[in-house]
Amino acid sequence: MILIKDQDEIQKVKAACQVVAQVFREIEGQVKAGISTLELDALIEGSIRRQGAQPAFKGYRGYKHASCLSVNAEVVHGIPGSRRLSEGDVVGVDIGALLNGFYGDAARTYAIGQVSGQARKLLRVGEECLELAIKQARAGRHLGDIGSAIERHAARAKFSVVRDLFGHGIGRSLHEDPLIPNFGMGGQGAELRPGMTLAIEPMVNAGGSQVLTLSDGWTVVTADNQLSVHFENTVLVTENDPEVLTK
Ligand code: MF3
Ligand code: CO
Repeated sequence: MILIKDQDEIQKVKAACQVVAQVFREIEGQVKAGISTLELDALIEGSIRRQGAQPAFKGYRGYKHASCLSVNAEVVHGIPGSRRLSEGDVVGVDIGALLNGFYGDAARTYAIGQVSGQARKLLRVGEECLELAIKQARAGRHLGDIGSAIERHAARAKFSVVRDLFGHGIGRSLHEDPLIPNFGMGGQGAELRPGMTLAIEPMVNAGGSQVLTLSDGWTVVTADNQLSVHFENTVLVTENDPEVLTK
């Protein structure tokens, strides 16, 4: 069942989302060559806690960190560790916060220094996929309109979307109904209504759509070892334009 949030619940989801947005503002300058992913995770956790919130991912199904940091061919759920970011990498930074019983969730992918032309194009297209998807998050549209916008934009660029992982509703739980595929057919799937809060999160691969999970049980990588990017915002469906809560 897709939960419709009332004004009070919307304000609380928004407050949790604003914690995440503030973390991104604080860490942006630190996502650079030389920092280890564990150090970056510590900055993220510190920022979340200073804001009076809790890291949503820590403890989730036994996950031990505040963020997922996914480098190059890692798609999502990369585990922070001793690896240091270096020039030419792309790193996906996925952050969730829990505040006053409600969740916010967002991800951005960053270039470390100068990256390849292909990486730059993939970053641009991935971000555009999220923007186009958000434009479809309107009352009366369907989940398939979101997925279709993402899939078509990626395909136009000769990239592919991950088909094994999904966006999701969000609120009192990090993951609520509905599942939000990054592919689909316009007009198909559940109809969107005002008060739905959706975490829309395209994962776009430079090569094929196939992914694998490493033996650590978390890290999802592209099967062909090509680059992948991930962009996510938590979005409110309204009577009018969609509202991006994690901006
Ligand atoms: N942001 C991810 C999502 O939307 C959550 C990562 S899984 C976790 O599903 F274990 F890190 F929480
Ligand atoms: Co998410």
